[in-house]
Amino acid sequence: MSDNDETPDDEDVQSAVEYLKMLQQGNMFNGREGLLEQLKELAQKGVHPLEVLQAMRKPVQEEPMAQVLDSFDLEGIAKYIAEKGCQRIVVMCGAGISTSAGIPDFRTPGTGLYDNLQRFNLPQAESIFELNFFRRNPGAFYELAREMWPGNFEPTPAHYFIRLLHEKGLLLRCYSQNIDSLERRAGLPGDKLVAAHGNFDEAHVIDTEPEVLVDINELKSALDKGEEGWQKLREDKGGLVKPKIVFFGEELPERFARLHRTDLANCDLLIVMGTSLVVHPFAGLVGYAARSAPRLLINRDQAGTCDGLKFGFRFHLAEAQNWRDAFHAGDCDSGCKALSELLGWKEDLQALVDSKGAASVTRAPWVEPESQ
Ligand code: OAD
Repeated sequence: MSDNDETPDDEDVQSAVEYLKMLQQGNMFNGREGLLEQLKELAQKGVHPLEVLQAMRKPVQEEPMAQVLDSFDLEGIAKYIAEKGCQRIVVMCGAGISTSAGIPDFRTPGTGLYDNLQRFNLPQAESIFELNFFRRNPGAFYELAREMWPGNFEPTPAHYFIRLLHEKGLLLRCYSQNIDSLERRAGLPGDKLVAAHGNFDEAHVIDTEPEVLVDINELKSALDKGEEGWQKLREDKGGLVKPKIVFFGEELPERFARLHRTDLANCDLLIVMGTSLVVHPFAGLVGYAARSAPRLLINRDQAGTCDGLKFGFRFHLAEAQNWRDAFHAGDCDSGCKALSELLGWKEDLQALVDSKGAASVTRAPWVEPESQ
């Protein structure tokens, strides 16, 4: 949206119209043609369909509970962890935990990936990760995939903080939207991680049922040869091959579907870091956390509040309306360091960072030692 509603910006109009076309192609308006016409009219004025659809949503009312935090900040969360003896913390994370490793996020204006894809001449930035677009124009994604291929990036203090929670015996699960595999590189065991948007561990031929898997190294060497390489691979495999990262229009991994409801219902604390919480179904996990479980967001800016996300955060509301949500505005690394310090684990976190995950860390005093 431009600042002035009377003179819509051409780019806003174009983006609104393209987005609407995409929704239409997905048969979203069957039986709701009246709504489609209204959205078309508004799109011509530069109003994005998402803004309208969002505004149509009725915020879900929640009955406030007795406060579970003494204060709605890192101190309150640290006190809660130690006094309650938390052992089932769920972490949800996004691109913001990897920016200090040198990997751009998606939506930060200017530096985010979606502001830097002009060379691909896309209808809209997200198209680069859309299955329909990929079927028609595989070259754009393939070029980007070569640049994004996980390389020599090192985990950040935020990644080691997640590992620290695991070593302390407090982590139930980490749900990550990131495809850089840095959680594993920080030493988090596979069973503690749900890579909700997939990763570059495997590749598959799209549109195959049952799914045909391809060795990721085969895809890598094909892409290294440019268009000739991927065209040949397409012929050999009978279809386009892509890394198993989740595109818009694809299902999330089976592991996500199997675990998320139980994990969130059982968590005793939810920590969300470095995500704009705009991509579903991932963002919806926030609302599945047990109602009595405190929730902490560490992010540069507020995200996932209940006016836009079902059962979302309430830290922006008056205290009577918020019984459990805390927002720490700032970088993930500094937020994680501050929380570790409040828990008396500053040195443990630093040791993991300095040793690249090799240091051993003792369990929290309230957690049983691991059985051999
Ligand atoms: P976004 O780029 O949407 O959001 C990143 C959030 O992290 C923003 O709120 C930033 O302000 C914040 N941020 C960036 N660096 C930070 C830092 N060092 N410390 C604290 N906050 C920081 O990224 P995601 O939410 O991860 O999906 O994006 C979700 C999904 O959208 C991605 O998984 C990807 C994309 O389309 C697919 O590709 C399927």
